[in-house]
Amino acid sequence: MKKSRTVLVTGGCGFIGANFVHLLLDEYPDWQVINLDKLTYAGNLENLRDATGNERYRFIKGDICDGSIVDGIFREYGIDTVVHFAAESHVDRSITGPADFIQTNIVGTFTLLEAARKSWMPRADSQAVFLHVSTDEVYGSLGETGYFSETTSYDPRSPYSASKASSDHLVSAYFHTYGLPVRITNCSNNYGPYQFPEKLIPLIFHNCMGGRELPVYGDGKNVRDWLYVKDHCEAIAQVVQKGKNGRSYNIGGNNEKENIEVVGLICDILDRKIGLLPTGECRRTLIRFVKDRLGHDRRYAIDAGRIRDEIGWQPQVRFEEGIERTIDWYLANTDWVSNVVDGSYRKYYEKMYEHRL
Ligand code: NAD
Ligand code: DAU
Repeated sequence: MKKSRTVLVTGGCGFIGANFVHLLLDEYPDWQVINLDKLTYAGNLENLRDATGNERYRFIKGDICDGSIVDGIFREYGIDTVVHFAAESHVDRSITGPADFIQTNIVGTFTLLEAARKSWMPRADSQAVFLHVSTDEVYGSLGETGYFSETTSYDPRSPYSASKASSDHLVSAYFHTYGLPVRITNCSNNYGPYQFPEKLIPLIFHNCMGGRELPVYGDGKNVRDWLYVKDHCEAIAQVVQKGKNGRSYNIGGNNEKENIEVVGLICDILDRKIGLLPTGECRRTLIRFVKDRLGHDRRYAIDAGRIRDEIGWQPQVRFEEGIERTIDWYLANTDWVSNVVDGSYRKYYEKMYEHRL
């Protein structure tokens, strides 16, 4: 039985956040959604164009590091659930410019925790939940074998993963110290609609469409465990409803692939769906092995036994089906991709919010 909730979603205009807001509006009719997003380069209001006007949805432009905005939202809306996605999320950007990662991922999470503590404690409502959305990258890198479980030691190796690990520790500390009802999810690589085309799958799609080179880092044999984004969103909603406070849940697709396999598959699907390149060549000819990412983690793989056994969640979408759906979505939304790539998605936002800027 789904209970009514008032959910503060942070970072709802990003890739996973937007898919999550869509899931709540479509499938959780008793849940109200307040979306707080700063609209960084990764936030795109077009992702939630369909939600505009929905009386269960409210968008607030703001920074999670701004305590007065966050406190005000808790007061005004009576938030009983936080699902915290907002973050700087791209590993390559964290290597060239880590400062924003420290600010948003650590200070921003701290600011939200403080607001929840002030609003909910010392006696939080039994329904209150602060769910912190985190990553499998906090565990570091695996060799040829083995899996990350919830008891694997943290060993983050990029500024991004170190900032996420730091925020995970803060979240746990608020449970142990103050009894704040927190839960953490650590998920593997997501793919699906609305992913910013700097991440592997939409980047390869975009370059394939323009006949541009397809950059594969190093030898292309780094392994990621891919999960369809809707499965991740459903897992999060399940952890909100059935998880235990103070507990972490690993989420994965049980779907390990080498990067070169993923890139080759996208080439083959596009060759089949829209025909070969104008030169008559197949898209695999565009693949280029380029300089490796600094500190590139070799392999991630998730043991998702806890969320399966305790909560009953398992991925529903097989990779072969999910990647076809994803390519179909990007083919049907080439305007969305080109608006992001040429920056015009910012104009849509500026036009909608010009009275507030
Ligand atoms: P994204 O980069 O697509 O979106 C991030 C969103 O957060 C954007 O809308 C951005 O505007 C917003 N944001 C950034 N800084 C903000 C701030 N200071 N205040 C308010 N809003 C801010 O990210 P994503 O890929 O959707 O990832 C969402 C979350 O899930 C992140 O916490 C990430 O660490 C985690 N995660 C991502 C993946 C993945 O594969 N993408 C996997 C596991 C976990
Ligand atoms: O594991 C979860 C993480 O997955 C999330 O926490 C991050 O927010 C999310 O961005 C993602 O991180 P990755 O670094 O794994 O994702 P990315 O799409 O950047 O890269 C996937 C793999 O592909 C990685 O091994 C690097 C490689 N790659 C990436 C790009 C952008 C390439 O070979 N070429 C590229 O151009």
